[in-house]
Amino acid sequence: MDLYEYQARDLFEAHDVPVLAGIVAETPEDAKAAAEKLGGVTVVKAQVKVGGRGKAGGVKVAKTADEAYEYAKEILGMDIKGHTVHQVMIAAGADIKEEYYFSILLDRANRTYLAMASVEGGMDIEQLAVERPDDLARVEVSPSTGLNREVAEKIAAEAKFADDLQSDIADVLVKLGDVFKKEDATLVEVNPLVLTGEGKLIALDGKVSVDDNAIFRQPEHANLVDERTENPLEAKAEAKDLNYVKLEGSVGVIGNGAGLVMSTLDVVAYAGENHGNVKPANFLDIGGGADAQVMADGLDVILGDPDVNSVFVNVFGGITACDQVATGIVQALEILGDAATKPLVVRLDGNKVEEGRAILAEANHPLVTIAATMDEGAVKAAELANK
Ligand SMILES: Nc1ncnc2c1ncn2[C@@H]1O[C@H](COP(=O)(O)OP(=O)(O)OP(=O)(O)O)[C@@H](O)[C@H]1O
Ligand SMILES: [Mg+2]
Repeated sequence: MDLYEYQARDLFEAHDVPVLAGIVAETPEDAKAAAEKLGGVTVVKAQVKVGGRGKAGGVKVAKTADEAYEYAKEILGMDIKGHTVHQVMIAAGADIKEEYYFSILLDRANRTYLAMASVEGGMDIEQLAVERPDDLARVEVSPSTGLNREVAEKIAAEAKFADDLQSDIADVLVKLGDVFKKEDATLVEVNPLVLTGEGKLIALDGKVSVDDNAIFRQPEHANLVDERTENPLEAKAEAKDLNYVKLEGSVGVIGNGAGLVMSTLDVVAYAGENHGNVKPANFLDIGGGADAQVMADGLDVILGDPDVNSVFVNVFGGITACDQVATGIVQALEILGDAATKPLVVRLDGNKVEEGRAILAEANHPLVTIAATMDEGAVKAAELANK
């Protein structure tokens, strides 16, 4: 889960990373009150989970509380790259002397953590990495040591921070390493990390992503979820412990095993090319031991998606044999009753396939079509979605 800037700021503060005061506001009136409370120059910042807010007009420096009111009025409700601004953060103004960049992230491909730092902060880091790669220090951080003092000093040295700053930078990096580790983050980015006129280092803008799989040991992360921006179907699936990801197409897909579901998405997209370019509507893996209730839950989520026109159930019977899956489908349709309104194409193969097909044939449900192969099922489902 990606966090808002203000949530990242709060986590930074909790781990002693130096930050400035910030107050979240949802109305221009509250923004004005916040600016009055902070006093002096403030910055009105759009809270959206997307980069480039400044360039889009979502970050404005306000000299007075009345200006903060005007900017908040302008920014609230603004659309930034498809994200509506519901909140602004009123941040205390910083006297910026220099802007730096720092990030630490999970480098999946290399099975390690990667820290990046540059004395050229503020600017677009992707651009810096391409145009002047030598100005971006990249240091591998072993998960077994983490971002300890020694590693932090190495990063500070490789990024060529001024000599008299090296030690202070290392202090801040160790604390950012604490945020990364203790919050089970997959990304902690500070852009810019600033040096003020007084010579203090401050994390002025933070981006943090926390690992949803760590929720069992980070129960307080549940409070960071913003229901306004959460996909309601994904939320429903999550509540039922289903591995579901909403996609943009109109063919609902259910399968058992992540690999099979991924291939099913491919064959559906391929078949769709001949049927009005229909595409898969979702990823849904009901797993190995799926019983009738799991099948019903899965179908319930998919049929609740207004974009779905047809559903392709693609199951390879293994530990849960095809007869159990078929029984599951028949029972699921009974459980759903009138809620089941869209055609279902079912392809079964593997353990007890004959028994499974016989159960479906006998139930003879008007919405169900049996397909002999995965390709045939994908074509049929695409055709039905295109009607
Ligand atoms: N509290 C502040 N005081 C003074 N200047 C600020 C403050 N916050 C941000 N700025 C200035 O605005 C610039 C952009 O701010 P920020 O980094 O928060 O947004 P952004 O980079 O445009 O957004 P994103 O990180 O989403 O791409 C900063 O580089 C900094 O120069
Ligand atoms: Mg930024």
